[in-house]
Amino acid sequence: MRKKFICGNWKMNKTVEEAVLFANEFRQIYMPVANRKVAVAAPFTALFSLKLCFEGSGVGVGAQNMHFEDSGAFTGEISAPMLKEIGVDYVIIGHSERRQYFGETDETVNKKLKKALEAGLGPIVCVGESLEQREAGTQFDLVGAQVKAAFEGVVAEDIEKITLAYEPIWAIGTGRTATAEQAQEMCAFIRKTAANIYGAETAEKLTIQYGGSVKPSNAAELLTQPDIDGALVGGASLKPADFWGIINY
Ligand code: 13P
Repeated sequence: MRKKFICGNWKMNKTVEEAVLFANEFRQIYMPVANRKVAVAAPFTALFSLKLCFEGSGVGVGAQNMHFEDSGAFTGEISAPMLKEIGVDYVIIGHSERRQYFGETDETVNKKLKKALEAGLGPIVCVGESLEQREAGTQFDLVGAQVKAAFEGVVAEDIEKITLAYEPIWAIGTGRTATAEQAQEMCAFIRKTAANIYGAETAEKLTIQYGGSVKPSNAAELLTQPDIDGALVGGASLKPADFWGIINY
């Protein structure tokens, strides 16, 4: 059975001091829940401190991006071995904000996914359509193409290590959550897309998260859908009580 995986995405928020404060507060209220995995994806600068703060708690730590090469002349970039060295567990790849503002493409997402797997980092690959695409009815074509491109050259044995996060762009930071029905429909479609490539048995091992305005009040409805295996949480992961409310839905 797949575990529910709830991951916070802090985006460009929290200094090291603020991150440590969060971790200390969060540890006071957090209790591991059976069959649930928890992690926080923080800015690079806070990762090392966070890893130390969460030691022994079972809470994982993730980065929000990485380069697909191990090292080289790529000013400003961070590589998978660098993240691995400081104990980082997960890495978000291809978030829509990176696709939109920083030139991330399906091709770089695919390269980064393969590098993360090679390095032993748990990849969280983001896909999702814009409002325009949903209104035009092209969301399944678009998301299907993103998933196929991300999985290019990825072997079946690695599918259980991957988390796919469905984040409709129109639901990110807008307060406008996808309905549980819409989210389930797309997550089931993503699993079907994976099944077409790898077979149904392998696709059952893929963890699929929903992301976009997840909060304590809508977490239960979303997370009890059969193909939604977790949540990627932006704004509501910045406050320990709200994040815990989602984990403990
Ligand atoms: P919000 O939860 O703030 O809508 O952000 C979602 C997101 O982009 C997580 O990666």
